[in-house]
Amino acid sequence: MSIRLAARAQAIEPFHVMRILAQARELEAQGRSIIHMEIGEPDFPSPEPVIAAGRQALDNKLTHYTAANGLPELRQAIADQYDLCSNLDAARILVTPGSSGALQLVMAMLLNSGDGIMLADPGYPCNRHIARLFTAEVQSIAVNESTDYQLTAELVEKYWQKNTKVVLIASPSNPTGTMISYEQLSDIYHLLQEKGAALVVDEIYHGLVYGEKPDSALNIGDQVFVINSFSKYYGMTGWRVGWLVVPPDEFIEAANRLAQNMYLAAPTLSQYAALAAIGQEAKEELTRRRDVFHLRRDVLLPLVEAAGFTVRTKPTGAFYIYADCSEIADDSMALCETLLHQAGVAITPGADFGSYESNKYVRFSYANAIENLQEGMMRIQRWINDNQ
Ligand SMILES: Cc1ncc(COP(=O)(O)O)c(C=O)c1O
Repeated sequence: MSIRLAARAQAIEPFHVMRILAQARELEAQGRSIIHMEIGEPDFPSPEPVIAAGRQALDNKLTHYTAANGLPELRQAIADQYDLCSNLDAARILVTPGSSGALQLVMAMLLNSGDGIMLADPGYPCNRHIARLFTAEVQSIAVNESTDYQLTAELVEKYWQKNTKVVLIASPSNPTGTMISYEQLSDIYHLLQEKGAALVVDEIYHGLVYGEKPDSALNIGDQVFVINSFSKYYGMTGWRVGWLVVPPDEFIEAANRLAQNMYLAAPTLSQYAALAAIGQEAKEELTRRRDVFHLRRDVLLPLVEAAGFTVRTKPTGAFYIYADCSEIADDSMALCETLLHQAGVAITPGADFGSYESNKYVRFSYANAIENLQEGMMRIQRWINDNQ
């Protein structure tokens, strides 16, 4: 008798971008030059003070578990960096293994089997995949440039179903880099308060916003679940450390019980390193890096448009540009494969982010040096000129 996979493991979808990345690595191993604009993580290493703090923690043999909700001094430092009207109680914060750990925790806390979770399509794929692992019903709502690719209170009301229990917003969004306004977010918050449903806001790209600094959803009220991470702005993807802020009391206690059982604690060395990431020494370097991302967006966006892609809402954060490629090709998945093999440029097909018109879209990541972005767009432009 052979061992059988559980239905959930059979059903979970892969990331198409991982296949593109694997093919890109194979081509590179054969000596081809590939420009990477598919990758969803900063190209910079972690800032030096972060690495030094991780090394110091190792030298100090800090290799035991922390409490399930994380190091108290890290939780306090996270609480202190929120610019809120009233102070954030550190008891509401749990340090998690990346924001992915926070996402799993929040879904475990809020979703019964068959409950609905509403989210935007296009959106970050793991959100819907993890919701399905928890046997929730994913209620994907098609969004477009008219709402900056974000949900609105009107859309939430329009598509509300009896079983809807959670609405998840990611701002800035992956793949569009666009943001929800504070007013819209407040309207959704108050609507969900009336309906007795939970609002989860993924603020992982909040540090990488190229205009006015956005307010956290925590400013609106305390009945909100906020996810964040040291991965993107702090450049610590591989350390696996993020956090979750939960509403007071009942949820703090439940989140702690779940964390104790699901992963015991976030990695200890990483938590010490994260403490240094929040510190003054790293701040200067992180601000400089954000300016570099800003500049890259300003260089890449016009090149993408000049090549014949349409960008309907200017991205204001993260490091992505979501572009309509239908003037260039009928099928974005095929275009990504062709550009990889024939032009030597890796980008991500829209299919990774949902099903709403996803075959018309691709995502460019500008987590790469300006010279490489320019070279990549030159190759794409040349391929288009030769093939149209
Ligand atoms: C919107 C969004 N949320 C969450 C994550 C997960 O990040 P991590 O688990 O590294 O914190 C990502 C990663 O790409 C993302 O884009």
